[in-house]
Amino acid sequence: MTSLDAPALARGAAHLLAELGNRAEVHDLYSPEGAAVYHDMAGGDTQEVRELVTLVRALPGPVLDLAAGSGRLTLPLLALGREVTALDLSETLLALLKERLAQSRGRLAERCTVVHADMRDFALDERFGAIVLGTSSISLLDPAGRAALYRRVRAHLLPQGRFLLTTVELHAPPGQEEAEFAFTGPSGRSYRFFERWARADGRRVVAVFPAETATETEAEQLTVCTTTIGVLPADLLESELTAHGFAVRSRIPLGDQSGRHRDVLMEAEVAA
Ligand SMILES: C[S@@+](CC[C@H](N)C(=O)[O-])C[C@H]1O[C@@H](n2cnc3c(N)ncnc32)[C@H](O)[C@@H]1O
Repeated sequence: MTSLDAPALARGAAHLLAELGNRAEVHDLYSPEGAAVYHDMAGGDTQEVRELVTLVRALPGPVLDLAAGSGRLTLPLLALGREVTALDLSETLLALLKERLAQSRGRLAERCTVVHADMRDFALDERFGAIVLGTSSISLLDPAGRAALYRRVRAHLLPQGRFLLTTVELHAPPGQEEAEFAFTGPSGRSYRFFERWARADGRRVVAVFPAETATETEAEQLTVCTTTIGVLPADLLESELTAHGFAVRSRIPLGDQSGRHRDVLMEAEVAA
């Protein structure tokens, strides 16, 4: 994580937050309180899962799912019939993953090892055919954290193994650093999503509000989630990976590549 101060919220978000006053309970999107909102934001994106599963299917050996969270990618990877190690720093999310494994059909849990660790600093006894870092989770690390991660990934790959990671690029003309979107999650709840791209320092701050802020009673609390995330273009990641002894074999665009957010899946291997 970065130690810099968070950039300011988008003006629309700051305005709405001021209007809500004491009714707003602000949490980090990745905190236990933000988990339900996070699930609603990420849960609808199935193309990343499909592309990752397709790539992993072709790679022999066990799979390491880094920053696995509550297992959005871990469960489909297990469904391939492979041994999967799911590693995350959040005990809360790993507890959710264990619950999901316990409820899953087909004895997936028997092939899953759950590890509580930091992806910048882990040492496992095993080597992997595929190491997956999805959901643009690499953006949560600062440059020193990413360098440490690359070293750990290299040390844990089998000779022909692949590092599969996703990133979200931002594209907007100067002057359009702020944006607002509406979305409805798989739970059926609707939200207002505000974003401010602090272009110069390569980060964006997001704020997610319930779409409906009028409530029955003035005293009713509303959960508002904010977080600051790095913005890491694929070119930047490719040059970092190259500097750390990887070769990028492919870049797979995920979804619409004409909008503000452009998701890219990168496939890297240790350079010969
Ligand atoms: C964007 S979520 C992705 C979770 C999961 N892969 C998914 O698709 O839903 C980011 C995850 O990174 C984890 N995380 C953040 N920093 C970490 C670190 N240094 N080491 C391991 N996990 C970390 C968080 O706990 C969270 O589960």
